[in-house]
Amino acid sequence: MQRQAIDLLVHGASELATPLGQGARSGTDMDEVQVLDQGAVAVHQGYILACGSEADLRAAFEPTECFDAEGGTLLPGFVDAHTHPVFAGTREAEFEQRLAGARYTEIAAAGGGILSTVKGVRSASREELLALLLTRLDRFLMLGTTTIEAKSGYGLTPEDEIKSLEVLRDAADVHALDIVPTFLGAHAIPDEHKGQKARYVEVVLQEMLPLVAESNLAEYCDVFVEEHTFDLEDARRISRKAQELGLGVRLHVDQLSPLGGAQLAAELGAASADHLEWVDGQGMAAMAEAGVAPVLCPLVPLFLGESKEAPGRALIDAGLAPVLSTDFNPGSCYLQSLPEVASWGALRYGFQAAEGLTAITLNAAASLGRGASLGSLEAGKQADICVTDLPSHRHLAYELGRSPVRAVIKAGRVVFHRNSRIL
Ligand code: NIG
Ligand code: FE
Repeated sequence: MQRQAIDLLVHGASELATPLGQGARSGTDMDEVQVLDQGAVAVHQGYILACGSEADLRAAFEPTECFDAEGGTLLPGFVDAHTHPVFAGTREAEFEQRLAGARYTEIAAAGGGILSTVKGVRSASREELLALLLTRLDRFLMLGTTTIEAKSGYGLTPEDEIKSLEVLRDAADVHALDIVPTFLGAHAIPDEHKGQKARYVEVVLQEMLPLVAESNLAEYCDVFVEEHTFDLEDARRISRKAQELGLGVRLHVDQLSPLGGAQLAAELGAASADHLEWVDGQGMAAMAEAGVAPVLCPLVPLFLGESKEAPGRALIDAGLAPVLSTDFNPGSCYLQSLPEVASWGALRYGFQAAEGLTAITLNAAASLGRGASLGSLEAGKQADICVTDLPSHRHLAYELGRSPVRAVIKAGRVVFHRNSRIL
């Protein structure tokens, strides 16, 4: 029988592990991943043609190139569904203030926090912002992440929000990583509107949102709903307007206090409700009913020195489809590693290996509207493959503090490769 010519065969793996499907996996389905011993992947024109045993794939296909996984485990490229990567300047001093007992909200009230990064972004040129962002995108890729959601939110004027979103677009044009952009103009009340939140909300509604929608620079709109930032009614108005303009909605809710943000996300039919440290049973039920994805950031309370953590296990038990993400940003979590997040999801929420894997791949992709094309290793999906040096996927959460990523294949192309041995 004639073998079909293909671009690439990824072989030599100890196993291939992946959730299956085009949509999020919820409840007990999160713990079911397909594990193919010595599984291989046939790739053509950037897409997966088949996954199966190496022997079967070699019998069916004739690859132009082969990639040897050297005994590691093949996983879907990781998807980070919540990041804030467009920033200039860092906030290690605040980190140390918190170690000495200061709270995140106290630092923000004293003019630090988000507003200190806003100063950095406003004074940075596009070129500077782009260079900083590209370095961060390289780091995501080296850690196995092949797609990120990325928020603006450190500009807070129409010009600086557009500048941030344009920098994201320019980075996506030249970088292998896929970027799903989110407009987060309602992240904080900038100094020039201090004490006049209502006026700033009007700027977001009347000036920023129309500009963002017209320029096609964002897929989603986000609002930081918190006692010291925007309330439920602000978020409702901003989100409704965003929806009228064709944007999807994601919301930072119930992070530092219980405001009922999860219920608002459900009412709005939001794609995701993020953080959720304080979500209650009613909020969970509302989200389950409306199909809102809970996007959890397990390292954030630790980084902030806050004791309240999201009820990760209860969300799965209630039949939801949680996502695990880094929340990468300079203030509340300077972290880019999803393997690290999977470990903390295991240790803090009790997510089993397969649940954690599903949460950083298929569920994350589905929350970004990419479940049909990303998030799993199966025929028809984009060939985004994380080649690890792990003996099995169960080591992903279990091994702490190092990157298990040997190579990354993005849309069928090897975009990162590290030597497996230091000579
Ligand atoms: O997700 N919650 C709002 N935004 C970020 C924090 C951003 C910052 O402190 O710079 C978060 O935690
Ligand atoms: Fe965030």
